[in-house]
Amino acid sequence: MLLLHLSDVDEASWAEGLRAALAPYPVVRRGDAFDPADIAYIFVWKPKAEAFAGLANLKAILSLGAGVDALLRHTGLPKGVPIVRFVDEDLTQRMSDYVVAHVTMHHRLYTRFRADQKARRWSQLYPPAASETSVGVMGLGVLGEDAAKRLLALGFTVRAWSRSGKHMDGVATFAGWDEFDAFLAGTDILVNLLPLTPETAGILNYETFGKLRRAKLAGGPAIVNAARGGHQKEADIVRALKDGTLGAASLDVFEVEPLPAESPLWDIENCYITPHIAAISSEASGVPYFSRIIKDHEAGKPLINVVDLARGY
Ligand code: NDP
Ligand code: OXD
Repeated sequence: MLLLHLSDVDEASWAEGLRAALAPYPVVRRGDAFDPADIAYIFVWKPKAEAFAGLANLKAILSLGAGVDALLRHTGLPKGVPIVRFVDEDLTQRMSDYVVAHVTMHHRLYTRFRADQKARRWSQLYPPAASETSVGVMGLGVLGEDAAKRLLALGFTVRAWSRSGKHMDGVATFAGWDEFDAFLAGTDILVNLLPLTPETAGILNYETFGKLRRAKLAGGPAIVNAARGGHQKEADIVRALKDGTLGAASLDVFEVEPLPAESPLWDIENCYITPHIAAISSEASGVPYFSRIIKDHEAGKPLINVVDLARGY
C-alpha cells in the first residue's frame, strides 16, 4: 500500500493521479482508514513530525523533492529504509531555464543598464563575449550537468566543481576542497547546484565571494543560488553586494523561507529574488515516475535514484 504525505502541494490531485496509474495497487492519504503496518511505500514532501510513526514495514520512502536535506534531518526517519528522490527531465529543464536566464542577465550587465535607463543615462560599455565569460557551476550532478551543457551551447566558458571531480567534455573540472580556490579564481558567475550537506552548508560566504575572478565583469562577479538557502550566508551576501565584492546575486532559496519581510535583501537593487520557484516537481511527470518505481520494485527490480545516506545526497 502507498501512503501520501505531501504538505504545501495539492495532495488530493497527486492521489488521484497515482491511484489511476497504480490501480489496483492501493493508495491512501493521511485521513483515510488504514493499518500503518500495511504501508510499503510513503511518498513525502515536507513530512510532519509523526509522518513515519507506526510504519514498520516500509520498503522505500519516495521524495517529491530532488533535494533530500530536510528529509534526512527528520528526527523520525526510519533507519535502513531506502530513499528514492525525484530525478526528472522536466524538472531539470526548468532548473536550466532559471540558470540560463540569470547567467545571461548578469553576463549582459543587466543591473548596470537598468540603472542607466532609470537615470536616463547613455553610457556605452560592451559586456565581454560569452566565450570570455567564465561560469563556474558548483555541483555537477543531474542539474549541474544539464545547466553546464546548456551554458556551453550558448558559448560560455564553463568550469565545474564536484566532490569527485567528475569529467565533462568541454568543461574544466575541479575536485574537492583542494581545488576549490583554483575553481573560484577563474569564475565570473558562480552557479550553485550542490546538495545541502554538512560539508556544503554556508559555502556561499564572504570569503568565497572574495576569491572569485574580478577582471571580466564590470561591477564584479555574480552568484546564482538555486539549490538551498542553507548554502548561503545572507549577511555576507548583503555585505558583498554593498561593498562591491559581488556585482549581483540571483537567489531562489533562503535561510528562512518564506524570506521574512524585514530581510535587507529585498531592498538591494543588484539582488534578484525569486520565491523558490526555479524548478518544480510536476505531477505530469511525477505520477509516471513514482508509479513506475513502485511497479518495478514490486516486480522485483532494484530501486533507482536511491540517496546515498553516508554522502547525504
Ligand atoms: P545530484 O545529487 O545529482 O548532484 C550533486 C552534485 O554535487 C554532484 O556532482 C556531487 O559531486 C556534488 N557535491 C556534493 N557534495 C559535494 C561537496 N562536498 N563538494 C563538492 N561537490 C559536491 O543533485 P541534483 O543535481 O539533482 O540537485 C542538486 C540540488 O538542487 C538538490 O540537492 C536540491 O537541493 C536543489 N534543487 C533546488 C530546486 C529549486 O527549485 N530551487 C529544485 C530541485 C533541486 P559528485 O559528482 O562527485 O558526487
Ligand atoms: C526540490 C525543490 O528539491 O523543489 O525538488 O527544492
